[in-house]
Amino acid sequence: MKSSAPKHQEIAEIIWIKPESPSYFRIGLACSPAYSDALPGQFVTLHLPGLMTPLLRRPFSIHRLIKEGHRVIGIEVLFKIVGGFTEKLARAASGDRVDILGPIGNGYTVSGNFRKIALVGGGIGAAPLVFLADAITETGSGLSDSVVCLGGRTSDDILCKSVFQSFDMGIYITTDDGSQGEQGLVTRPLEKWITSNQPDIIYACGPMPMLRAVADIANKNNLPCEISIETIMACGLGACLGCAINKNETTGKYQHVCIDGPVFDAKKLNF
Ligand SMILES: Cc1cc2nc3c(=O)[nH]c(=O)nc-3n(C[C@H](O)[C@H](O)[C@H](O)COP(=O)(O)OP(=O)(O)OC[C@H]3O[C@@H](n4cnc5c(N)ncnc54)[C@H](O)[C@@H]3O)c2cc1C
Ligand code: FES
Repeated sequence: MKSSAPKHQEIAEIIWIKPESPSYFRIGLACSPAYSDALPGQFVTLHLPGLMTPLLRRPFSIHRLIKEGHRVIGIEVLFKIVGGFTEKLARAASGDRVDILGPIGNGYTVSGNFRKIALVGGGIGAAPLVFLADAITETGSGLSDSVVCLGGRTSDDILCKSVFQSFDMGIYITTDDGSQGEQGLVTRPLEKWITSNQPDIIYACGPMPMLRAVADIANKNNLPCEISIETIMACGLGACLGCAINKNETTGKYQHVCIDGPVFDAKKLNF
């Protein structure tokens, strides 16, 4: 896991905002060149200038970089409406301003040496995996021997399918209600795939029970695995200690998602 250039706070203009479905939106933000060094898995915290409720900034993964030629001119965030902030953000329009702090945290390890990769995304957990797939492709390593397993409660929660299709990788889809793909847990196709494939690494992002199951599968099969944890965060800066997950076995200190993560080596977590 790697961390990038120091984080930077700025007021960014919304370039565009597009509904993906009634509950999911994509937003393009014009940001400073600080994001040229952003790593997949890192996140930003957002706030709307003048907003009193909610008062605290909210964390969102960097979904993609927006480029003009090779120059990074902004970032894309994919978000789900779940409460006060995301409802207000969904009502914003292009030209409006957003207070953005980032890039924050440790990103996924990207290496051109990884040839066979499994990505596992649960619901909105697909968001950082697209930036990861972009970064892997930029190393010159294709994804045609790799797979992505996308899971969701219903068909509406299966995100970024066409983007992953454009990477020419295998795609497995599961939903809890069977409305798209196979009915059941997203870990089922992962387990099936690794019986005949030896991935160089598994990367995952999604709800905690899914991450625990993916980590168990990786550890049982002795496979490297990095997971990104999306806990509820208050400060996002290591000050409130509200995002503690578990004790580091070596140091005996609690690890915090905002400063020690959000990406962790699954072998080093006992969660
Ligand atoms: C590192 C990180 C990356 C994230 N990336 C994304 C992303 O790319 N896209 C996205 O849509 N969301 C992402 N989230 C979650 C996002 O931060 C929350 O959905 C957002 O803060 C909700 O704010 P709100 O005011 O709309 O809802 P709130 O009113 O704060 O919450 C509404 C409901 O959602 C629950 N909730 C809030 N945050 C979480 C969470 N992290 N996990 C589970 N339940 C939660 C609350 O308990 C409450 O029940 C990420 C979180 C973290 C920590
Ligand atoms: S959110 Fe405050 S310490 Fe992590």
